[in-house]
Order: sequence, then C-alpha cells, then structure tokens
Amino acid sequence: MSTQEIKKTVLAYSGGLDTSVIICWLKETYGCEVIAYCADLGQGEELGHLTEKAEKTGASKVYISDLRETFAADYIFPMLRANAVYEGVYLLGTAIARPLIAKRQMEIAKEEGADAVSHGATGKGNDQVRFELAYLAIDPQIKIIAPWRDWDFQSRSDLIAYTAEHNIPVEATAEKPYSIDRNLLHVSYEGGILEDPWTAPQEAMFATTVSPEAAPDEALTIEIEYKTGNAIAIDGRAYSPASLIEKLNQLGGMHGIGRVDLVENRYVGMKSRGIYETPGGTILHVAHRAIESLTLDREVLHLRDSLIPQYASMLYNGYWFSPEREMLQTMMDEAQKGVTGIARLKLYKGNVTVMGRKAPHSLYRPEISTFEKDTVYVQKEAEGFIRLNALRLKLKSMHGGV
Ligand code: ARG
Repeated sequence: MSTQEIKKTVLAYSGGLDTSVIICWLKETYGCEVIAYCADLGQGEELGHLTEKAEKTGASKVYISDLRETFAADYIFPMLRANAVYEGVYLLGTAIARPLIAKRQMEIAKEEGADAVSHGATGKGNDQVRFELAYLAIDPQIKIIAPWRDWDFQSRSDLIAYTAEHNIPVEATAEKPYSIDRNLLHVSYEGGILEDPWTAPQEAMFATTVSPEAAPDEALTIEIEYKTGNAIAIDGRAYSPASLIEKLNQLGGMHGIGRVDLVENRYVGMKSRGIYETPGGTILHVAHRAIESLTLDREVLHLRDSLIPQYASMLYNGYWFSPEREMLQTMMDEAQKGVTGIARLKLYKGNVTVMGRKAPHSLYRPEISTFEKDTVYVQKEAEGFIRLNALRLKLKSMHGGV
C-alpha cells in the first residue's frame, strides 16, 4: 500500500457498494478529504439521492455533472464519424465514456485544489487504463489512487463487512449476477454466469432491447438525415445529439436491434466475454455507411476503412487524449465534409436494412453506371486500362509464374 501523502481526493463515484467503501477507505487510509463526483452520461438512474448518500458516507462535497450533451456531441459523434468498431463488433460504448468522466473529474480537482483523483475500476480491466491515461494526459503531476489495486479486500462480502463496521449506508441489494456499465450509448454486461463463453445470456438480463423474437411483426421505416457526417434529424424532425441517440435507442430497442455477444481482447492481455446492447448506435452505423456509400470517394473510403481498426484500438486502449487519435480524428473529419444526405432504414426483428439513400453531393451517377445505352462513358477505353494493368501479370507468367 502506498504511503504517499494526500490532502484532498476527487473520487469518480457511482453510489454503488465499491465506491461507497472507497470514500471511507480513502479517508481512513490517507486521512484525506474526499470529494465525490458523479457524471450523468445518461445511465438512466435517478441521481438526485446521490448527494445525500455520498455525504452520509463521508464525502465533504458532492458534484453531479450532467454531461449528456457533451458526451453525445464531442465524444460519441466523433467516434461515429470514424465508424469505430473494435474487433469487428464492439461499438465501444464504455471506452468512449471514460475519457469524459476523467476530464470533468480533473476539472473538479483543479477547481478544488485537490492533489489526487481516485476511481473504482479493478486492476484487471481496461477502465483503469482509460481513466489513468486521461488523468495523466491532462495533468502529469496528479496523484492517482486505485483502491482495487491497493487494498486487501478480496470479495464483495469483504466489502459488505466493511460497510457494516463503518456504518456506510448501502442498499441491501442482492448480488448482481453481472458487472453492468450503462450510459447513453450502450449497456455492457460482464462476469458472473457470463464468464462461460458457451453459456448464452438470460433474456431477463437485457435492459434496453427486446429479443428479435419478441419484436413487433410490423417493420418500422425511418429516415435519418446527416449533415457533414453527423446525424441531425429523424423523420424530418431535428434532434440534439443526445436526444437523437435516446430516440434511436427507444426505436431500436423496440425492434430488438443492437445486441452483441463476444469474447474480446482486453488491453491488459486477457480475453473476456462481454455482452452489449447498443440499439441507437447500431442504427447510426448503418445509416452513416449508407450516406457514405454515395458521397465518399473510393480511395478515401478504402483508406479510411483501413484505419478504423487502429482508431478503434486507440479508443479501446484508452488513448482518446493522444496525438495519434487526434491526428486520425482530423483525417476522419476531413473525409466527412461531403457526408450529407438522408438514409431510409427498415427496423425489423433485430435487423437494420437500408431501403434508400440520397445525397445532394452524391458521387453516384446513374447516367454513367447504367446498363442501358449511355453517352458519357467510352467502353473502348477499358481495353487499354485492362491491358496495361495486365502487363506485370503477363511478365510474371512469361517467367513460368516464378
Ligand atoms: N469490456 C468493455 C470495455 O472494456 C466493457 C467494460 C465494462 N466495464 C465495466 N465496469 N463493467 O470497454
């Protein structure tokens, strides 16, 4: 255990068992003042009672920051403009939240003259890395306390015993069968019975989507409008970034869209099984690609696509505040200048199907692509194109293919 001297700590607090214990443990271990801070990222919980709860637990002051619109506009939307997907399916709903939580936490630390920050992430996961890389990118001098890596508690029952000894108010909730992380973009589930990758999740686990089987037999068709890479309206009605995601979560959830079950590679080296619900984000990925298919130049699209895995790894591994992510973001955003238009989509039993797309600056030219007689494209020119491209193949063949 560290013996460093700490005067005042800002803790990323959720009101749950772990961070409640942390308030008390920090005070006991370091004799420091603890400020509790909770970011509202659209986790859909009633946060009103948190202030009182944190104070009762021993926090000297409590901050509850509504960051929903910032989260949507400055974090989720830039990530969506880049079409970020980790390992083929994970839409990074937890990874994108951490840098914002950390950034606001560091602002509070600065306002309060705190010398340390603390979080409740364990020593086995990605979240500790994401929080701490962000803290250090913002202030290299900040002291970081990660109690899960320091204290002697081994289990949930150790924590509960500690709350009893220290009169920490915790709701007597039954042990959650999974670790859940929820925000505006997604819900994630890990641990418990999900640790067996052969065991399918129980239907009752899902919080925001119905199963495709339980979805309505009637499809829903919607239109999403994009301007320079950002979704701005649904069915002709303008929405703010956060309310647009909320609306699509509701529509997508109703139609069983956006469930994913994977075994992923954590940055710390282990594999872990995760289940995600990202209804609105899934719809936005499909809609965005539909507009891009009309508006992006071929080489720009292919080059951009080749960089998605790297961009996604940067986010997953916690490098949101890094020169490499910022460099790629500039490039991604440059590609989005002409990504304006409308996608028409059908939502039906877990699927999002593109039914139509249009764009004022579409590069698709039916008069050129047509199978019918055209007056623009000279078919004869294709012969020289093919012959020159075949030159090196012919030379290789002349050498017997070696
Ligand atoms: N595995 C996902 C990620 O690393 C989700 C982590 C969820 N965090 C949690 N505390 N349950 O992004």
